[in-house]
Amino acid sequence: MNIAANSGPVRPVQEVNPATNWQPDSWQGLKALQQANYPDQEALKRALLKLTELPPLVTSWEILALREQIAEAQEGKRFVLQGGDCAESFHECCSPLITNRLKVLLQMSLALVHGLQMPVVRIGRFAGQYAKPRSSDQETRDGLTLPSYRGDLVNSYEFNEKSRVPDPERLLQAHAYSAMTMNFVRSLVDGGFADVHHTEYWDLSWLEHSPLATEFHKLTESLGKSLRFLETITGRDVGSLRRVDFFTSHEALHLHYEQAQTRQVPRQWGWFNLGTHFPWIGMRTADPEGAHVEYFRGIRNPIGIKVGPGMDSDWLARLLEKLNPGREAGRIALIHRMGESKIEEHLPKLIKAVDDCGSPVLWISDPMHGNTESTGDGIKTRRFRKIMREMELAFEIHRANNSRLGGVHLELTGENVTECTGGARDLSDEDLKRDYKSTVDPRLNYEQSLEMAMLIVRKHAQGD
Ligand code: PEP
Ligand code: CO
Repeated sequence: MNIAANSGPVRPVQEVNPATNWQPDSWQGLKALQQANYPDQEALKRALLKLTELPPLVTSWEILALREQIAEAQEGKRFVLQGGDCAESFHECCSPLITNRLKVLLQMSLALVHGLQMPVVRIGRFAGQYAKPRSSDQETRDGLTLPSYRGDLVNSYEFNEKSRVPDPERLLQAHAYSAMTMNFVRSLVDGGFADVHHTEYWDLSWLEHSPLATEFHKLTESLGKSLRFLETITGRDVGSLRRVDFFTSHEALHLHYEQAQTRQVPRQWGWFNLGTHFPWIGMRTADPEGAHVEYFRGIRNPIGIKVGPGMDSDWLARLLEKLNPGREAGRIALIHRMGESKIEEHLPKLIKAVDDCGSPVLWISDPMHGNTESTGDGIKTRRFRKIMREMELAFEIHRANNSRLGGVHLELTGENVTECTGGARDLSDEDLKRDYKSTVDPRLNYEQSLEMAMLIVRKHAQGD
């Protein structure tokens, strides 16, 4: 994942001045929602001090390269594919899971590159997606009340007192697991795993016959032929296709953790969050006057903001003013997650609000988070039909409002799970019981993910 090397020269986007009256800890003077309550504050301080001394996970060059690519996506020259687990977990930091997730993202991105005829920016929801917002601080089961599970960064999912008490050591573990994940992804990508000449590496071993896999193979065969043709004609090897870029992202929820990885670097002004390339602000923590927005205000990373049906034009305008006062390109991606029944009512006025304030943004559709529901048996699921519908509507609404959808944000896995119903195999509520593995939100499986990529290609083509 030698990102800077494969991203071409970094043409600096025009950035204005460093945020004024800002320090990595200035958020501490404001109300911070969704934070863990650590009983042992001394242990927390020790862990954070250690964290500030550990090497960073990403570099400022990579971050600036991504900013440049997001600026290009804002102009319609690239499309963003952001995807991965709802929450990573420490015990799933292992080779098959990481490679399978990468394989799905690579297959999807190739289908997109081919269908959209433009470069795709690949951003994983991985190497740090360990903190989760919760609707309640506590959970009660059979009369026992314990702190809610807030992701492996904070505590453990098992429902007993010892597991649920927030443990500061986990901050260091999360950093280590993120580093291991990144190290493996970087080695795979640098070592030729992402070589488009060898897409057979991307086949999922568990997958038996699937119409979508067959469709994907047809696509790579035709691509392979074109590549060989190009190489024969030019007498040159298309070397740059041996590697692709992968960036990382996570919800920057746990502000002490993020602060500890916020650094200055030689020969650069300002501050970078060097724990990830692309942190995002979750829907529950997007208060313009709150601690999270204060933290994000001062870092130079490109940032995502989740936008739900509860956000109005004024709120969005205030966020943009705070987070991008210089109206810089490549700085902001708005990730809307409305729900298929609400997107038509809520998205158009937000598009107008953005137009009115003149801030360049990249619009990304997250068709997952507004479409979560429970089955009669109380299993959390998402109907694939609704996910597809929200995605289609997102394309249509942007087009009808002179705007452009420039990316998609999905929760997906390379494992053979049954968490969302519908899709090519038409999974039913009954099927959910078979292979449901997520501890938080239901994810798209391989076939549903590829189907999604094909849908994006179709909808995008309608605009040409
Ligand atoms: C998420 O992305 O997992 C999430 C919690 O999203 P949102 O903030 O949009 O609800
Ligand atoms: Co989620």
